[in-house]
Amino acid sequence: MADLADKLNRPLLDAAGVVAGDRVLDLASGAGEPALSAARRVGGAGLVVGSDLVPGMLGGAVRRAATETAPPLFTAADMTSLPFANGAFDRVTCRFGVMFVPDTLAALRDVRRVLRAGGRAAFMVWGPLAGNGLFADIGAAVAARLGEDHSLAPLFRFAAPGSLAAAMSEAGFGTVTESDLTPVRKAPADQPFWRAALDMSFGHRLGGLPANERAALESDIAARFAAQAVDGVVPVPAHVRIIVGQ
Ligand SMILES: C[S@@+](CC[C@H](N)C(=O)[O-])C[C@H]1O[C@@H](n2cnc3c(N)ncnc32)[C@H](O)[C@@H]1O
Repeated sequence: MADLADKLNRPLLDAAGVVAGDRVLDLASGAGEPALSAARRVGGAGLVVGSDLVPGMLGGAVRRAATETAPPLFTAADMTSLPFANGAFDRVTCRFGVMFVPDTLAALRDVRRVLRAGGRAAFMVWGPLAGNGLFADIGAAVAARLGEDHSLAPLFRFAAPGSLAAAMSEAGFGTVTESDLTPVRKAPADQPFWRAALDMSFGHRLGGLPANERAALESDIAARFAAQAVDGVVPVPAHVRIIVGQ
């Protein structure tokens, strides 16, 4: 994701209206983004709290923050029951996290609660699978080898335009807007840039797979992407959506 990071984080932070001095809560921070980018933007006068349901997910985020001059604070938190005071934050951000929360409304209501009046929350979700070449090709290769599979469905839970926006309105956000981004990732053709996404999405199925079958699947995936390479670079299209609530 590294080469995509700026193309995703900057528009998300812009949409949330994050500026120097803000108090920002990042939900489902995982390995640390966009909390780390937000911390650079708010600077020493601001405060960024990065959070995730799974404390172990934050280990990498804490390590990456060690080299920052004004690092975020990281803490475990379930976004449906946030351990923060009412109105504690100016901005809330969340990149690719809200789709994994079964009780979306509970999460969105609690996000409203911790935002100050006039504050803003911005969520980034995946657009349709067809526009996301990484997942589309991995999913097609897995389906061809292992049969039909619904493991990618949670990622694309809010792919339909307006679906998360409707939930935000229901949760009480006054003004809700959404916009689409279609960045193209430049992936190195000679590296297995797709492996992390394969493990993240299909690890539960691949765990019991004999080594030779896993190798055959990986070689199918590598061949699919190699066929798209131009001068050693695979252009991998992505389609994401940013939904903002005030
Ligand atoms: C795909 S990762 C996104 C990580 C990071 N924001 C990024 O974009 O790279 C999704 C994260 O959502 C977290 N998550 C799932 N349910 C959650 C919840 N109820 N509250 C907070 N985080 C949650 C997971 O632990 C995981 O780290």
